Amino acid sequence: MAQTTETLPEKVKALDDADAVEAVLSELDEELVGLDPVKERIREMAALLVIDKLRREAGLESSRPSLHMTFTGNPGTGKTTVALKMAEILHRLGYIPKPKVVSVTRDDLVGQYVGHTAPKTRDVLKRAKGGVLFIDEAYYLYRPENERDYGQESIEILLQVMETERDDLVVVLAGYKDRMDTFFRSNPGMGSRVAHHLHFPDFTVDELVQIADLMMGQQQYEFEDEARDAFREYIERRVERPRFAYGRSIRNAIDRSRMRQAGRLYERRDELTREDLVTIKAEDIRGSSLFSDEDGESSADDDTAPGNQS
Ligand SMILES: Nc1ncnc2c1ncn2[C@@H]1O[C@H](COP(=O)(O)OP(=O)(O)O)[C@@H](O)[C@H]1O
Ligand SMILES: [Mg+2]
Repeated sequence: MAQTTETLPEKVKALDDADAVEAVLSELDEELVGLDPVKERIREMAALLVIDKLRREAGLESSRPSLHMTFTGNPGTGKTTVALKMAEILHRLGYIPKPKVVSVTRDDLVGQYVGHTAPKTRDVLKRAKGGVLFIDEAYYLYRPENERDYGQESIEILLQVMETERDDLVVVLAGYKDRMDTFFRSNPGMGSRVAHHLHFPDFTVDELVQIADLMMGQQQYEFEDEARDAFREYIERRVERPRFAYGRSIRNAIDRSRMRQAGRLYERRDELTREDLVTIKAEDIRGSSLFSDEDGESSADDDTAPGNQS
């Protein structure tokens, strides 16, 4: 009998942790379209962390699991967004003291002159301490073509900190999958410190339409039915064009259709209903140069800078 009373509080504890994580996981499900493999991997990781924590609390053998990760995928596939959720999960489980993400690129870590890199990298690490350090396009730290590149110095410091300060810093290396693979081949030390690899697949056109509906709802706009059809057609065309950046391109396209709606309503100079203000019409989409310029030479709808992964 004594045993039952002894195990009871631990069971309650387990539920608490699982519930706290479950809340973030269902947010993840609701707020993010698609990304099934990513959601599944996060669920697995969360389970591991809940159980690991319980084992520790029960005095069982447990070494803190390595939490450094890669998020690979094309621009606009949700890496930054998921990093914020991941920080929330790690925080709720007590793996990081703050649910924060410090997002940086090479330029934040590497200096231009001798002696500048170490302080820059250390400053970033200090800011990220206790949370998640998200290094976008991490592979740019390594430039083998330039023998004296300072990126290597930053890598050395990161390697050391990833090993010794595992208790209060989680590093996420993000970027294109192929470049990340190449980076790890040239920097095996980096690869070996990363335990979890999450790949973010490209969204399908259907998923992109769903993302558009979700973003519109969040901003209290609605597509008219013909406008949604037009938007689907817009996406089908946009996907074929250079520098398409999935979720980010959708957000930019919505911004531009809001501009066109505003212009259209402004011109009317009559009384506007709430519905007028909320509704995006097909013409607000079809005004895009993508529908007039068949050669694809216009830059009006270029919403991303070349190579921009952020
Ligand atoms: N699965 C998704 N569901 C809904 N919106 C998404 C999803 N993935 C990304 N977004 C949106 O797309 C935009 C770009 O996402 P982001 O996380 O910055 O991509 P990445 O970091 O991979 O470039 C953001 O506005 C984000 O809210
Ligand atoms: Mg990003």
